[in-house]
Amino acid sequence: MSTPVGTRRSFVKWVTGLSSAFIGLSLAIPLIGYVISPALTRRKASWMPVEKVENLPVNEPKDLDYAVTTQDGYLETRQTKAVWALKHPDQTVTVFSPICPHLGCGYHWDSQDRRFKCPCHGSVYDMNGKVLGGPAPRPLDVLPSKIENGELLVIYKEFKSGLSTKVEL
Ligand code: FES
Repeated sequence: MSTPVGTRRSFVKWVTGLSSAFIGLSLAIPLIGYVISPALTRRKASWMPVEKVENLPVNEPKDLDYAVTTQDGYLETRQTKAVWALKHPDQTVTVFSPICPHLGCGYHWDSQDRRFKCPCHGSVYDMNGKVLGGPAPRPLDVLPSKIENGELLVIYKEFKSGLSTKVEL
């Protein structure tokens, strides 16, 4: 049986424990948030210079390699990316992702047939990315691009393959 002193003592212990837990949690929650939030942040893509527009041939897709630095949480990685760029007669440029929308293989430009062809399952696209044949569920994925001071800038993105609509990864 507890005495009034025992009851008071256990009450003080209980309040002290509760206060300690409260202080601990109020310190831990912001700290945990600070530590894990970069890992939960979506990769930041930025405009990257790819090529001088004057170096692109008109009506002839050209594959371009360029270096990309990606910030993913705390990790900064540098990779080489490739895109297909098509300069139109009016000097505008369309940039395609190099990944086939069917199941993600790399495709190439057949300059004889003037078509993009994917070697994996035989999808065929015209110069503007429209599907001409094969199992591809959608046209080639167009990437955001712009021209500044004669330079072609691109934001590299990837999309889910096998879908009829573009869904960014
Ligand atoms: S991955 Fe290109 S046709 Fe299947």
